[in-house]
Amino acid sequence: MRLRNSRRNQAFQAAATTTRTLQREPRRRSWRRWCATIFALAAVVVGCGGSDQTGQSSSLGGTSATEPSGGGTTGTAGSGGVVTPRASGGAGVGGISATAGGTPSPASGGGVGGVLPSAGGAPSTGGVGNGGVNGTGGVVQGGVNSTGGSNAAGGTGARNTGGTAQGSAVGGANVTGGTLSGGGAAATGGAVAGTGGVGGGTGGGAPVQAYNGARGKSFNDGWKFYLGDASGAEQPTFNDTSWRSLSVPHDWSIELPFNTNSPAGHGGGLLDGGVGWYRKKFTLDQSYSGQKIRIEFDGVYENSTVYVNGTALNTPLGPPPRPYGYSTFEYDITTNVNASASNVIAVKVDNSNQPNSRWYSGSGIYRNVWLTSLNPVHIAYNGAFVTTPSVSATSATVSIATDVENQASSSQSVTITTGIYDASGALVANNTTAASSVATGATSTLNQSLTVSNPHLWSTNAPYLYQVKLTLQVGNSTVDTYLVPLGLRSYSFDPNTGFSLNGKSLKLQGMAMHHDFGAIGAAYHHRAQERQLQILKGMGVNAIRTSHNPPVPELLDLADKMGFLIMDEAFDVWETGKEPKYDYHIYFTKWAQTDIQDLVRRDRNHASVIMWSIGNEIQGASTTTAANLIKWVKAIDSTRPLTWACNAMGDGTNQAVAALLDLQGYNYLQNGSVTSPIFDGHHTSHPTWKIFGSEMESGARSRGFYSTAADNPTSWGNCDGSAMECSDYPDTNASPAGYEQMYVITKDRPWFAGEFDWTGFDYGGEPWPYAGNAKSSYFGIVDTAGFPKNGYYFWQSRRTTAPMVHIFPHWTWKAGTTVNVWVYSNCDSVELFLNGTSLGSKSFTSPNTASLGWTVPWASGSLVAKGTKGGTVVATDEVDSAGAAAKVNLAVDRTTLAADGWDLAYVTAVIQDSTGVMVPTANNSITFAVSGPGKIVGADNGDPIDLTAYSSPTRKAFNGKALAIVQSTGAPGQIVVTATSSGLTAGSVTATAN
Ligand code: GAL
Repeated sequence: MRLRNSRRNQAFQAAATTTRTLQREPRRRSWRRWCATIFALAAVVVGCGGSDQTGQSSSLGGTSATEPSGGGTTGTAGSGGVVTPRASGGAGVGGISATAGGTPSPASGGGVGGVLPSAGGAPSTGGVGNGGVNGTGGVVQGGVNSTGGSNAAGGTGARNTGGTAQGSAVGGANVTGGTLSGGGAAATGGAVAGTGGVGGGTGGGAPVQAYNGARGKSFNDGWKFYLGDASGAEQPTFNDTSWRSLSVPHDWSIELPFNTNSPAGHGGGLLDGGVGWYRKKFTLDQSYSGQKIRIEFDGVYENSTVYVNGTALNTPLGPPPRPYGYSTFEYDITTNVNASASNVIAVKVDNSNQPNSRWYSGSGIYRNVWLTSLNPVHIAYNGAFVTTPSVSATSATVSIATDVENQASSSQSVTITTGIYDASGALVANNTTAASSVATGATSTLNQSLTVSNPHLWSTNAPYLYQVKLTLQVGNSTVDTYLVPLGLRSYSFDPNTGFSLNGKSLKLQGMAMHHDFGAIGAAYHHRAQERQLQILKGMGVNAIRTSHNPPVPELLDLADKMGFLIMDEAFDVWETGKEPKYDYHIYFTKWAQTDIQDLVRRDRNHASVIMWSIGNEIQGASTTTAANLIKWVKAIDSTRPLTWACNAMGDGTNQAVAALLDLQGYNYLQNGSVTSPIFDGHHTSHPTWKIFGSEMESGARSRGFYSTAADNPTSWGNCDGSAMECSDYPDTNASPAGYEQMYVITKDRPWFAGEFDWTGFDYGGEPWPYAGNAKSSYFGIVDTAGFPKNGYYFWQSRRTTAPMVHIFPHWTWKAGTTVNVWVYSNCDSVELFLNGTSLGSKSFTSPNTASLGWTVPWASGSLVAKGTKGGTVVATDEVDSAGAAAKVNLAVDRTTLAADGWDLAYVTAVIQDSTGVMVPTANNSITFAVSGPGKIVGADNGDPIDLTAYSSPTRKAFNGKALAIVQSTGAPGQIVVTATSSGLTAGSVTATAN
C-alpha cells in the first residue's frame, strides 16, 4: 500500500543514512526492530557435501554412532554411522554405511518410514546410505558416498516403486542435505522429511499437470516471442521468422537489465514490464478428430488476450483480456481450430500498466500451458471434487462428486467407475455408479462414496498419497479418465487447542512465500520450486502461505508429496488499491468471483490445502465484500475454513469481517507487545475465535553480512547505510517480535495455532530499507540464491530433532576484535573451543532459552562448537580464519539431472583461501561457463543491492558465495561447469544429464 510503503520508505531511508539504529514510524501494525546474524553454513542446503568450503565445517554425517570408516574429509565420522543432516536434510535417515557399519537410525532424520536396508544399492567405498521410505512408496535412497566425503549424489538402484527420490545421506563432512538424483520418472512421493531431511526428487523438471485430472499434454515448446507490441501478430499469416524461439514458461522481465527508473518501481524489483507477444504454429493429432479441444494456461502475467487463427477468444466474462496474472484458466478452442490443417495461436500479454504490484510479478506466459482433447462426453474442467468426510486410523470415507458434461448431440447414459490405488499401485477401494442419463448440452453431477480400510494417513511427516482414478463410460466404452491425488487426513482448528492433524496437536510452522525463483524470476521451473521447498523443510517448516495470490498449481502437488500445509491465498487487495492506479483493485469488482472460484475449483482436491485466504491486509474492507467472497468460495468448497491475513484487528469493520470468517489470521502484533500481543486480548474477548499468526517477524538481513563483530541485536535496525546491507546477527528481540520471541509466543499459547513468518525466501521487489537502490527483499530467512541466513538455523534448532549446531559469525577478523559468538543448537549443551582450548560449556537452561552466547577475543585459528546430548558429542560446527582468496570452489546440488531440457542443477561457488576455508567477505567477480548439454539460465549471489542482470554469467561473490543455475538442454552427457575469477585458481564441477 502506497501510504504505508512511503512511510516505511522514509523510515528506512533514515536507516540508510544513519546506519543501524533505526526508528520506525508507527504503522498500523507495529513493527519489529532490525537486527540479525551471520551467514549460512556450509555447502548448499541440499546436497553438496564434501569438504567444507565455507570456513565452517560440521560433522553432519556419521557423527558418533559406530565411528565408521571412510567418509568425510572434515566431518568426524565417515560414511557410516548416523547421519544427522543439518539443513534441509537428505534422506538422512539411514545414512548407513553398508560396508562400514553403523546402525540404522530411522529416528535421526529423513524419511518417514525408516530404513529399508534391502533397498540399498551397491556399497561403494563410502557405503550406501539407505534412506527412509518415501511416504508414498518411493524408496528414498541414500547416495553413494563414492569418494569418501565428497558426497556423490545419487544412490544406485531404487528407481523402482515409483520413487526416484534419493538422498545423499552420506556421512561425509558437512552434508547438509540430501542430494536428489536426477533422471527417472517422477517419484510418487518424492521428498519426505522427517526431522532432518528431504530426500525426494522428481528426477527432473519436465512438466506434469497437477490438476484437471492430469489430462493435459504439455503445450510449452515451440513458441515464438517478441518483446513489444506487434500490429497484426494475431493473424495466422503474420511473419514471425525474426522472432525469438523459446519454450514457455517464460518471464521476459527477469531477462532485462535492472532499471532504477523502471515504471515498475522498487516494489516491482526494478524490472520493466511492457507488452509481449507469443505465437505458436501447431497441427492437431489425427486422434483429436471429433474431440473437444481445450487449452489451459496456468498463469499469464497479466492481461492476456488469446487468439486462435486470428480470432480473439472470449473470457468467461466477455471480451478479453483476462486480467489477473495469477489465475489459471482454460479456453475451449474446438470451433477455432482446423482439425486437419495448421493452426496459429497468438497470445498478447500486456503488463505495461505499472506499477501494478507491490512485489516482483514477472511478465509473460510464466507458467505451464496444456492442450487437452476430450470426448464430447467428459468430466468437466476441474470437475471432480474429492472430499474425505471422515478419516480415522481404521477407516476413511471418500466422497466424490463428478461433473459430467455432455457436449454430444444426444443424451447419453453414463457410468463412472472409481478406483482408489495405494502408493504401490494396489487397488484398495472401488465403486461403479448406476447408469445416469445426461441430456445433450447438460452437466450432471454423479456422486460416489468409497471406504478405505486401515488407511495410511497423510501428514506432514508422512505424506502418504493414494490416487483416485475415475473412468467415465458410455455403455462399455471409456470416454474419459481423470486422476486425482488423494491424501487421507483429518484436521481441525480449535479456539482453545489450536490446530490438530489426524487428532494430534500440531503447530503451523509456516513461512509466507512469494512465487518467484530468484535469478530465474517468475518462470515456473519444477526443480526450482522443489528445491525451495526442500530448503524450507530442512528448517522444520511444515506450512506455506501463498502470499498474496493464487500459487502455481505444481506447488500444491509438491506440498501434497512433501508434506506441507497450505494457506491458499487469493488477493492482496479488494476494491481499494495499494498500488493506487493499476493493481488488481481495478479488476476486482468484475473479476473477483471468477478468479477466486477458479482458484478453489483448481486446488480443492489437495490434501495440503487447509484453508482459503480471501485477502491480505485489506484496505477498505467491508462485510458485504467479505460475505460475497465467502459465499463464492463455499459454493465451490464448503469443507475448508476461510480466513484472511489482517493487520488491523482492532478496527471495528475488520472485526465485523472477522466474525464472518472461520479462522482469524493476524499479521504482526499490531501494537501489542511481545508479552501482550493483540491476539491475547481477542482470545479472551472472543472465546470462539480460532487464532493464528498469518504473518510475523519480517526482519531485514543480508546473508553473511556483519557491520561489526558485535552488531547490536536488540535495536530495531542493524542496517548499515554505507553498505546498504542489514546485519545477519539474529532478529532475536525484535519489535514487535523476532524469531526467538515468536518461538516463545507460539509455544506458550496452546490456543495459538502457529504462524507464518515473512518470508521463507527473499523475493524480487520490496527492497526495504534500500528502496531505490536495491532490487530484492531483505526479509527472507533464505536469500534469493537459496543460501540460508542465520535465522534459518534458529528455526532448525527449535523445530527439528536431528542433532545440529550452528555457530556464527565467521572467524576472520582483525586482532583486537571482540566477537559476539552465537550458537543455535538442539543439543542439551554446547561447548566452545578456540584453537583447541575450551571456552566453557553452556546449556539451554530454560525452555525459553533458544540461543547460547559467548564473548570471545578474536585470535586467528578455529572456533569449534560441540553439541552434546546425554553426555555424548552428537554434532559439531566450526568456523575458521581465512587467509587471502586463492581459488573458486564449485559444488553442485545434484550430480545427475534429467536430460529433459527442463531440469536444473544449482552450482554453488565459494571463494576459498589456499586451505579451503571460505573467505567470508569475498566479493571477487566470477564468470561461469558450461560445456556439454547444459546452459546457464541465471546467476545470483543473494545480494539485494547487486544490480548485475540475473541473466549475466558473470557475477560478484557476495560474502564469499555465488550461484549459477544450469539447465539441461535435452541431450544426455557430461555437463562441466567452470568458474573463473581473476587471480584465483578456477573451479569446476561435473554433472551428468541422462
Ligand atoms: C506486510 C505485507 C507483506 C509485506 C510485508 C513486508 O505488511 O503483508 O506483503 O509487504 O509487510 O514487511
